[in-house]
Amino acid sequence: MIKIALTKGRIEKNIEELLGELGYDTNPMVNKDRKLLIELGNELQIVFVKSIDVVNLVKLGFVDLGIVGSDIIFENPSEKYSQLIDFETGKCFFALCGYQTYSEIPDDRVKRIATKYPNIARAYFEKKKQEIEVIKLQGSVEIAPIIGISDAIVDIVETGDTLRANGLSVIEPIASVSTRLIGNNERIQEKEHEIASFVEKINNYKNRVACVSNSKNNR
Ligand code: PRP
Repeated sequence: MIKIALTKGRIEKNIEELLGELGYDTNPMVNKDRKLLIELGNELQIVFVKSIDVVNLVKLGFVDLGIVGSDIIFENPSEKYSQLIDFETGKCFFALCGYQTYSEIPDDRVKRIATKYPNIARAYFEKKKQEIEVIKLQGSVEIAPIIGISDAIVDIVETGDTLRANGLSVIEPIASVSTRLIGNNERIQEKEHEIASFVEKINNYKNRVACVSNSKNNR
């Protein structure tokens, strides 16, 4: 049996549909109510946790695989796990966001940047050779420039609705984000055949979907 940590919420819904398309009976998932661990047949055991815990459980080898956004992977890199699949769903992007007046701040002034992603923010400003002070927030990061905690934010943007609703905009996109399958390196070796066949099933499905969409576009 393969043990998978799955990010609760939006990612969970997409993966539930995908597993249904792959032929798994997803009833235990659809009807799980508040259960945090379910089994799909005798093939998959799924635990439902927050994104950062998906990465931590995979790193520690408490689960074999994890399904999580690449934002969390970029922020928490580790040699203990590998990326196996880009589902190409849950697409959004990292961006530097703020008020239009951000561009008026002189380059040599240390900027205050609020973010849930300090590593991403530091790497981005290091490339620009600009010094920053990072203000780590756990969520609702958009509030920071509004109440004067920061000059700008580094955050993920999906629809852009939160930025617009708060009078902010994208100053510069940083990197794209999508849902990924990751695997603990030791577990990948231990369960080589089981995991390879699960990964192949997903890749075959992705290829089928890509073929259908290409042939529709070529009509
Ligand atoms: C994320 C992100 C933005 C928002 C972007 O927050 O941090 O706040 O979504 O989405 P949008 O472009 O579609 O408006 P999330 O919903 O994860 O909640 P959080 O603020 O608690 O992090």
